[in-house]
Amino acid sequence: MTLEEQVLDRIKPIPEEKKELEGIAAELLAKVSAAARHLEISGVIPKLVGSAARNTWISGTHDLDVFISFPATTSREELETNGLLIAREVAKDGQNVEERYAEHPYLNIEYKGFDVDLVPCFAVDSASCIISAVDRTPFHNEFIKMCIPGREDDVLIMKQFMKGTGTYGSELRTQGFSGYLTELLIVNYGSFRNTIRNACNWKPGLTIDIMEHGTIKHEEPLVVIDPTDPKRNVAAALSLNRFAQFIDACRTYTEKPSEDFFFPKTPEPMQEIEITDMMNSRGSSFIAIVFKTPDLVDDILYPQLDKMQHSVRALFEDYDFQVLNSGYWAKEDAIVLIELVSSRLPLVKKHMGPPVWVSEHSLGFKAKYENSDELFSLYIEDGFYVADIKRKFTTAKELLIERIKNCSLGKHIGKAVTEGFTILEGTDIAKIEEPDFRRFLRKWEQGK
Ligand code: UTP
Ligand code: MN
Repeated sequence: MTLEEQVLDRIKPIPEEKKELEGIAAELLAKVSAAARHLEISGVIPKLVGSAARNTWISGTHDLDVFISFPATTSREELETNGLLIAREVAKDGQNVEERYAEHPYLNIEYKGFDVDLVPCFAVDSASCIISAVDRTPFHNEFIKMCIPGREDDVLIMKQFMKGTGTYGSELRTQGFSGYLTELLIVNYGSFRNTIRNACNWKPGLTIDIMEHGTIKHEEPLVVIDPTDPKRNVAAALSLNRFAQFIDACRTYTEKPSEDFFFPKTPEPMQEIEITDMMNSRGSSFIAIVFKTPDLVDDILYPQLDKMQHSVRALFEDYDFQVLNSGYWAKEDAIVLIELVSSRLPLVKKHMGPPVWVSEHSLGFKAKYENSDELFSLYIEDGFYVADIKRKFTTAKELLIERIKNCSLGKHIGKAVTEGFTILEGTDIAKIEEPDFRRFLRKWEQGK
C-alpha cells in the first residue's frame, strides 16, 4: 500500500459511518420541512450542503451544513425571523443550541452527536446575484457535485495533508484553505499528487480560473476564481504566510514523503529547565503579557490578539527595544509573548537635532536641551546637533506597565487588559505550568 493509500485508509468513512451520516442528514431535512409546514411558512426548501453533501468529509468529523432556502423575493427581516423560527423548531430535538452570526443569524446545534449548522439563505438565480454571502454555497454544492465524482479520495487526502501541515481552514485564526478551495484545487489539477507537484512552484500572483470567466483583478497571493461567481476569489482568506507554508510543505513532502505530514505528532510540552535553557542559549530577552481571555468566538478573539501583538511590537520599536519574534497563545489566560534583543537599554539615548546651519531650529534645539535635567551632553556630529539625553524607559517591563494602555487594542482585549494584566520575564515565563502553553513554546523553539 502506498503512503497515500494508507492515509486514505484512516480518513475515508466506512459504509456504516456514511450511512449513519446520510440518515441523520435526511432526518434533519425532513424536520426542516415539517417545521416550515407546522409554522405555516411556505416556499421553504431544505438543502444539505458542504462536504457532507459532496462525499468529501473526513471520517470522525461530524459536521452537517443544513441550509434553509427561502424564495429570493423574501425580505431580509422575514428571512431572519422565519429562518430562526424554523431553526428553533428543529433545535427542539437537539442540544447545546447556540445562535451565531455571519451576515445574518443562524443556529448551531448538536444533534445525535453531529455538529449541525442551520443556516437560512435566499434561493437566488445565480451565485453572481446573491443577497446574502451564504447564498453562494448551494451553487458551490452543485458545481462540486458535478465535477468531483471519482476524485473524492484526492480531496480527502489533500484536506488531511493541509490539516496536518496547519494550513486547512479559512477561519481568521488559521487563514488557510477552505474546504471548497481544496475541492477546486483538485478539480483544477486532477489529483492530490498533481496538486502537490504544481504547488511546489507556486508564486504569489498565481490565478486559477477554471471557467475562464474572471472579470476583476485581485490582489491576494493566490487567486482562484469562483466557477459560480466570476467576481469572487475563493482564496481571498488565504494569508501570504499560509500560502508560503503550503508551498514549503509540498516541497519537503515531495523530497521525503512521510506520514508525519498528515498526522503530525503533538509536540511534548517543554520542561521548565528546557525553557530556561532555550532562553539562555538564545541570549535574548523574553517578556510576556498575561491577562484573562475575553469570552469571544475565535473569529473575533484571534484577530484582536494579532492586532495586540502588532501594537506591542510597534510600542517596543518606538522606544528603541528591538523585537526579534512575537506570538500569542490563549486558553483561560491569554499570553502575548515577545522576544527582544534586550529588555534593558542604557539610560543614555542619542537624540538627533537639526543641521547647525538651520539657525532658528538650532536655537530652539539648544534652548530646549542645554539646561535640561535630561541632558548628558550636547555636541555636533556630521553637521548635526546631537543631544545625549536620558531615556524615559530603560526596561521593557516599565515601558509596558506605563504605556500598554496607549496601544491600539481591539475592543474586547482593550477592556480585558484595562481590567488587569501581569508582565512576566525570562525564567518566570518558564514557570507557567499550562502544558498547552509549553507546547506552544516547543513550536517557538523549533520554528513554529
Ligand atoms: P464548511 O466550512 O463546513 O466547509 O462550509 P466544508 O466544505 O463543508 O468542509 P469541511 O469538510 O466541513 O471542512 C460549508 C460550505 O460553506 C461555503 C462552502 O460552499 C462550503 O462548502 N463556504 C464556507 C465558503 O464558501 N467559504 C468559506 O470560507 C466557508
Ligand atoms: Mn462542513
